[in-house]
Amino acid sequence: MPASVVLGAQWGDEGKGKAIDQLAPNSQWAVRFQGGNNAGHTIVAGGTTLKMHLLPSGITASDCKLVLGCGMVVDPWVLDRELKEWAELTGEHPEGERLFISERAAVILPFHRLYDSADKVVGTTGRGIGPAYRDRTERVGIRFVDVGLLMGRSQEIGEMARRMNEQLATVGVEDRIDPVQLGSELKWIHERFSNAIRATGPMLDDALARGEQVLLEGAQGAMLDIDQGTYPFVTSSITCRANATHGAGIHPGHIEQCYGITKAYTTRVGNGPFPTELSLEEGPGKQMSVVGHEFGTTTGRPRRTGWLDAVALNESQRLNGYTGLVVTKLDVLGGLDELKICTSYELDGQEVKHLPSSSEELSRCKPVYETHPGFPAMGEEEWIQIAEESRNGGGIGSLPSSIRAYLTRIEEISGVPVVSVGVGPDRLASIASSGGPFDIELSEATF
Ligand code: IMP
Repeated sequence: MPASVVLGAQWGDEGKGKAIDQLAPNSQWAVRFQGGNNAGHTIVAGGTTLKMHLLPSGITASDCKLVLGCGMVVDPWVLDRELKEWAELTGEHPEGERLFISERAAVILPFHRLYDSADKVVGTTGRGIGPAYRDRTERVGIRFVDVGLLMGRSQEIGEMARRMNEQLATVGVEDRIDPVQLGSELKWIHERFSNAIRATGPMLDDALARGEQVLLEGAQGAMLDIDQGTYPFVTSSITCRANATHGAGIHPGHIEQCYGITKAYTTRVGNGPFPTELSLEEGPGKQMSVVGHEFGTTTGRPRRTGWLDAVALNESQRLNGYTGLVVTKLDVLGGLDELKICTSYELDGQEVKHLPSSSEELSRCKPVYETHPGFPAMGEEEWIQIAEESRNGGGIGSLPSSIRAYLTRIEEISGVPVVSVGVGPDRLASIASSGGPFDIELSEATF
């Protein structure tokens, strides 16, 4: 059986966690392939809200095995904390049983967090993600396979601390790395996780050969991709489909389904151009922020809000070739008089259909909108009722026609069918297209 990918089609925070949570019961594996705990996936089911930064969202399906793939940067202390929280909630200790860490994944150390704290430009999450990838690219970083090999090599560890301290000094960070402490931290990582560290690429390849289903979980979004996003206001990994298999240690031919997750509007956290941005203080931008609870899962920062940017959505389709779109948080737009979709930009009097490669140019782009009628606000129960009707055979046809028209327009512009629509945070608050990949039985909670 093939692999499926779930990817962010915007600037992250699109609601990937919920889609993965729904698909996971039909997958034998859920794999993170890039990023680290800069991601924040929220899953709401059965009155429990889970906020996960490292653990794959597929953890909610008890038969789904989990991999932190070789393309990731993993902070062992955050992983330890999340595993403790998971054990408190469920009693399960998945590490080494059904959770495996790639030998090739990079280790985030306190140095990386300290170095990231010097960022003044990008507005990073401060979790050490960029510095850990930088060390990997410079080929001086530590991967999980290296941790065990470093045990007792105090000279090498001392050299590592010296290099780290030189770098901290260059960016004006006063804290310093103590080589003895670094040695004991590495020892702790080794003792805590050695039962879970595996050659996960071959494991997944074998699983695919046995006919098992692999779900590849993206983090961030296409517009935050290091190569294709709004550079330099991007994350430090490749967030797109091309990296989904590479960051898992398998080949791209395995991918059969690729789902792009987009909000019915747009949000962005951190700095960088955002052509459809609205005011957070009033009007639709405020509604998106307040009703959509638009605060970063990782840092708690208020997310910037704006209308749906179909130029960005189409760029992400060009990069990822979605087989289906999941439109999330549609309920948040209820009660607005009109809805806008940005279909092109205007730059220096010219129509622009693609995101300019320069963020400076993108920040000068003016959005060109088409306007659609709004739809009335509905309460949580009304939405859940429509969702139930959709699962009883109504599909997307269960939605009022004004809402369907908005979705149809998104399909026309992107050329991708909408396969699921999110109308509330709960696992059950989703409307799937009949017979589509999300037309699956959803249980109240599996944990
Ligand atoms: P970094 O990934 O911490 O280096 O941050 C780089 C940029 O990506 C910043 O603008 C962050 O706000 C943004 N970013 C990183 N992870 C996420 C995410 O999961 N959702 C939304 N934005 C993110």
